Amino acid sequence: METPIKWGILGLGKIAHKFASDLKTVQGASLHAVASRTQQKANEFSKKFKIQNAYGSYEALAKDPEVDVIYIATPHVFHASNSMLCMQHGKAVLCEKPIGINAQQLKQMIQSSTTHKAFLMEGLWTNFMPHLKNLQELIKLETYGKCLTIEADFSFKANVDPEKRLFNKKLAGGALLDIGIYPVYLALKLLGKPNQIHATAEFSSTGVDLSNQIQFHYQSGAIANLSSSFDKNSPSTAKIVFEKATVELGSRFHETDQLTITTDSEKNKIDFHYPTHGYQFEIEHVQDCLAKNLLESPEWPLKSSLELIGTLDKIRNEIGLKYKEDKA
Ligand SMILES: NC(=O)c1ccc[n+]([C@@H]2O[C@H](COP(=O)([O-])OP(=O)(O)OC[C@H]3O[C@@H](n4cnc5c(N)ncnc54)[C@H](OP(=O)(O)O)[C@@H]3O)[C@@H](O)[C@H]2O)c1
Repeated sequence: METPIKWGILGLGKIAHKFASDLKTVQGASLHAVASRTQQKANEFSKKFKIQNAYGSYEALAKDPEVDVIYIATPHVFHASNSMLCMQHGKAVLCEKPIGINAQQLKQMIQSSTTHKAFLMEGLWTNFMPHLKNLQELIKLETYGKCLTIEADFSFKANVDPEKRLFNKKLAGGALLDIGIYPVYLALKLLGKPNQIHATAEFSSTGVDLSNQIQFHYQSGAIANLSSSFDKNSPSTAKIVFEKATVELGSRFHETDQLTITTDSEKNKIDFHYPTHGYQFEIEHVQDCLAKNLLESPEWPLKSSLELIGTLDKIRNEIGLKYKEDKA
């Protein structure tokens, strides 16, 4: 049997719990250590998931010589510094989305990956899910002709809490970077870089975007209508109109296991059912990359992350949302 890849998790909040439970299902993966800012939280997490090593500081995890790869699960604003700490100690990094809060931070992270020869990938988990792979294939083969329009929304009602990361400007809160990243990702993935971007937003009392509406225009005439909001509950679906079919992504589109394809003559529902949250697909991909000694993913390379965060920078510029980490 091959030696398992030893994972560490840095920052033990909501998403870390889901990720840990999916990681346990991946062949060849071992959850070796976790780190929190407090020892007690690390102890509780390690007890729950039966993990050998629990650290009360992020640095201790980065320095653990046994760990191969670290999953960064802290608020957006810490992604760059946490990832660079791990890469400095030679660790591969899978960093939650958005990988940095602006393109400038991501460029520093890429520099660190190059300098320390450490693998780096953004945890854009949707990119590795079966429904996205299927969609990419339809686009590549032009099965239903060209893509004409995309409509994608991701919204849920959240209570305004100035301290929590969704609304806290110091933690780079706001709908766009937290959930709006998924509609933007979908349009970039399926149609590429737009010629023109128009965006508007409503702001919360904490100074971050409560909701946003974005339109991408393409040379081909294609249009993407994208939106996200913390101010309403919505099914959070997506609809892609091709010349010869309409493809609907079920609720919530970024993690759905269902595609419905409607043509003039038939309606087909594809169900990619799996019993987990869906993080195992990106975990398996990272393991493949590490087995091949790659420094970045061929399927979600750093240039794609740069294009995504660069587009989010442009949208923030258009709606007038600046964080203190942005250059003046
Ligand atoms: N891929 C996905 O499906 C998905 C879903 C949700 C969130 N996310 C991403 O994952 C990241 C974390 O989201 P989450 O919902 O897990 O957040 P969360 O529940 O607030 O947890 C974040 C964790 O980060 C650590 N942390 C370090 N400094 C902090 C600070 N100053 N304030 C608050 N927490 C701090 C804390 O862990 P310790 O106390 O243990 O140090 C905290 O528990 C975000 O960047 C988000 O975009 C991804």
